[in-house]
Amino acid sequence: MDEEVATQMDWSPFSHQTLLDPEARALSRVGVIDVGSNSVRMVVFDGAARAPAYFYNEKVMCALGAGLSSSGILNPDGRIRAKAAIIRFVKLAGGMKVTPLLAVATAAVREATDGPAFCEEIEAETGLKLWVIDGEQEARFSAQGVLLGWPGAEGLMCDIGGSSMEIAEIQDGEVGRCATSSLGPLKLADVKGGKKGLRDHVRSELAQLAKTVPVRHKRLYLVGGSWRAFARLDMLRKGYPLAVLHEYEMSPKSIRATIDWIETQDLNDLRLQTGIGQARISLIPKAIQVLRPLLATFKPSAVAVSSFGIREGVLYEQMSDRLRRRDPLIEASRFAEARSARMPGFGKVLFEFISPLYKGARESERRLVRAACHLHDVGWRAHPDYRSEVVFDTATQANLAGMTHEERIFLGLSLLHRYKNSRAGSRFEPFFDMITPEEQIRAEVLGKALRFGAMFAAEDGEFLGKLKWFPKKKILEVHMRKDLAILLGEVAQARFNSLAKSLEAQSRVVMR
Ligand code: LMR
Ligand code: MG
Repeated sequence: MDEEVATQMDWSPFSHQTLLDPEARALSRVGVIDVGSNSVRMVVFDGAARAPAYFYNEKVMCALGAGLSSSGILNPDGRIRAKAAIIRFVKLAGGMKVTPLLAVATAAVREATDGPAFCEEIEAETGLKLWVIDGEQEARFSAQGVLLGWPGAEGLMCDIGGSSMEIAEIQDGEVGRCATSSLGPLKLADVKGGKKGLRDHVRSELAQLAKTVPVRHKRLYLVGGSWRAFARLDMLRKGYPLAVLHEYEMSPKSIRATIDWIETQDLNDLRLQTGIGQARISLIPKAIQVLRPLLATFKPSAVAVSSFGIREGVLYEQMSDRLRRRDPLIEASRFAEARSARMPGFGKVLFEFISPLYKGARESERRLVRAACHLHDVGWRAHPDYRSEVVFDTATQANLAGMTHEERIFLGLSLLHRYKNSRAGSRFEPFFDMITPEEQIRAEVLGKALRFGAMFAAEDGEFLGKLKWFPKKKILEVHMRKDLAILLGEVAQARFNSLAKSLEAQSRVVMR
């Protein structure tokens, strides 16, 4: 185990907790302004640097790149609106004590003849320096954004903007070759030659991209507002229960089916059903002209959405390797515990207590168990009748990274059972079916173990009992010192029995 990972596994209260880490603290409120060809956006990241929360997030659809191919200049109306938005953002960032505030400008500003003048104007008026990045840098930042939310990402990143589309390889936690193209939907609107002209143009641009970045990556990561809007439509068509876009998976087959389906639908109807904005949905017909040939060119076997992109990539750029290698899920969970649990630090004690149940478990499950331990008490302020729902929603819908949708359900269900024995008749039933019946039972066991263990919080953090689990014999024991036997009150005893029942085990109390 390398030292960094070892330190992360160290649970001592003074191990480098994010909150105590000067580097993480220095990055505790970073602002990024992204002057894109469709939208101008400011995001302020807050909190645990490796797993930032969105303290502020505002976008204005300025369409700076509209008409650019023929006019050569920034869309005049968009330019006025973009400037107003940036002035507003800079003022707000001042009030939020954001340091640093970083600003990048992409395809539209770099290509327009009045791009430099626009940057000068912004700097003169606000003091903010717009960093005009080239296509390869744009690709690299977006791919870094994918890595921020997805440390294990491997494959090809594709970021669609307004005036350009970038791709980048991601391998072993690093960004590899990067390339850019003019396949942004605003640009495609200006391509001449009707349907055929567009088709040929898309094909030749994709062929160019495929020359720089070799084809056949197993996974394709989609970044950018237009792909996110497409994913929302895919969810709508399928009646997908979760609303989270990050790590939403689509098979190439389902993507093709959704493209065919969109072509038969009224865009306005789709807009009303999904809440996608007018400016955004109007780009969908162009974006899908790229998506089908994109799949045909790069032949991914799986496609997933990353709601992290260029802005998160700019944040990632500020981090040391040491910070990058931490697990965003564990960081976020620890952060939530430190901020919201009644007894911060107890999560670690609880983890040790229930560990005997996870001796042979896969690392991927142990990681979720750890997150659940940190999160086991963050819902305590909610009304007792609603705690199980609040924690389920928090785990499944939260703006958290580093979890597949199935893992979200597993974590949510285990936290639900932290507060409640039965899930029968729950309004969350459609979600539970996203994981297998066996996984549902494992989540139930975890929740019940947390529920039982939570009754043994001693002042000094020392645990008052020990679990022993004999999986072959199906015996679950709790060992306690005789003088502490009184602690195993009626309720605790009932919770212990309920846990044993979920394990289909016999329960035994052993007094020493
Ligand atoms: C852009 O170019 O504006 C994109 O990166 C983001 C968007 O909103 O499409
Ligand atoms: Mg962009």
